[in-house]
Amino acid sequence: MRLSSFLSQSARWGRAALALGGTLLLTGCNLNFWRMDGHQSTIQVDGPVARSQLEVFYVTCWVTLVIFVLVGAVLAYATLKFKARTADDEHAEPPEQSHGNPLIELSLIGLSILALVFIAVPTLKAIWFTYDVPEEQRDNAYEVTAIGYQWWFKFEYPNEQIDGVGPLVTANELVIPAGRPVRVNLRTVDVIHSFWVPKLAGKVDMIPNRGNHLWLQADEPGYFWGQCAEYCGDSHAVMRFRVIALNEADFADWLSREKAPARTLTQTAAAGEAPKIQFASFKRNEYGFSEKWDANAAVPPLNHWKQQQFPLQNEDAALIATGRRLFTEKTCAGCHTVRGHEGLGITGPDLTHIGARTTIAAGLLENNPEQMARWLLHPDAVKPGNKMYTTGYIPNNITLTQDEVSALVAYLESLK
Ligand code: CUA
Repeated sequence: MRLSSFLSQSARWGRAALALGGTLLLTGCNLNFWRMDGHQSTIQVDGPVARSQLEVFYVTCWVTLVIFVLVGAVLAYATLKFKARTADDEHAEPPEQSHGNPLIELSLIGLSILALVFIAVPTLKAIWFTYDVPEEQRDNAYEVTAIGYQWWFKFEYPNEQIDGVGPLVTANELVIPAGRPVRVNLRTVDVIHSFWVPKLAGKVDMIPNRGNHLWLQADEPGYFWGQCAEYCGDSHAVMRFRVIALNEADFADWLSREKAPARTLTQTAAAGEAPKIQFASFKRNEYGFSEKWDANAAVPPLNHWKQQQFPLQNEDAALIATGRRLFTEKTCAGCHTVRGHEGLGITGPDLTHIGARTTIAAGLLENNPEQMARWLLHPDAVKPGNKMYTTGYIPNNITLTQDEVSALVAYLESLK
């Protein structure tokens, strides 16, 4: 090919690349965008399992990039060098063919095998590493069981037994010790779900009648976003959860609070103004805590989670007592448990300490009185097809007035 045409071609490509780069620069001047550090990034990871998986990704990426560049260069060279330039070229004899050249054929086979071996060795190592907690760390590992429901997650702590009750049970926010391997048994009660905390570990399916497991570890205390990663029905996309990793002392604290039965306010314990709930203006946040969280947020999510452990100010004991009564009257207690109060239901999430969680509706909404009211008033609008609405509200003909919702919200938010 003539040098001049090559140069003009290159200039055109250069301009296109500049335009694309400029567009990206203008649309994404967000640091997290460039660091690829969203809540569910698999590139900025925070634990050894996710890190080992990231390494496999990079190895594969680099090997295939080298192959792509080599093949692309040869293809471009051949295309440009041998293209027909004049009418006579159209009928010219093809250049000398190298088909069947043993040296080329054998080297190509050899190089392919080499590339595959280069990818296979770290891949196999990572498969063994990520399959289960390494033997030398097994004594130090913590065990939890995650159970998928349409559309939320139940978490059981088999080694934290409560007298006369059974293992500690919670929902949608999995609290773990930081810096320790955690083995997660994966179960489901209905369809196939998939357990995925991108910054901590790759996804593993929760399959009916099959005991899967994975392990993960958070390097440091932190707040991590999780998501069901296998299509499981109407609200699959909003079947989320959080992992909260705590240092040893905080974790022990949390366990003792969580094992305690639900908090009860005596009528004289608190009196004050009931929090005003803005029924008309729900905050537009479908992301749980928090939509716009980044390094500049006033309160990092883990701190927010810690604040959430304390009772709200201005609790109204009388209103809370009304809420507790309504919890049974409106048949909430048929599906939910508030351990120590009413309710032995197991089809819905355990609510014994729901007020202490940062999110409700399986990680979809922030846990505050406004969002709780929204969730109770319009569960179908928040999470289409959910069982609270389809098998709770509809067949039982449940309607809630705004006063009833205020009382229920006060009660639920008091359950720290
Ligand atoms: Cu559960 Cu998708």
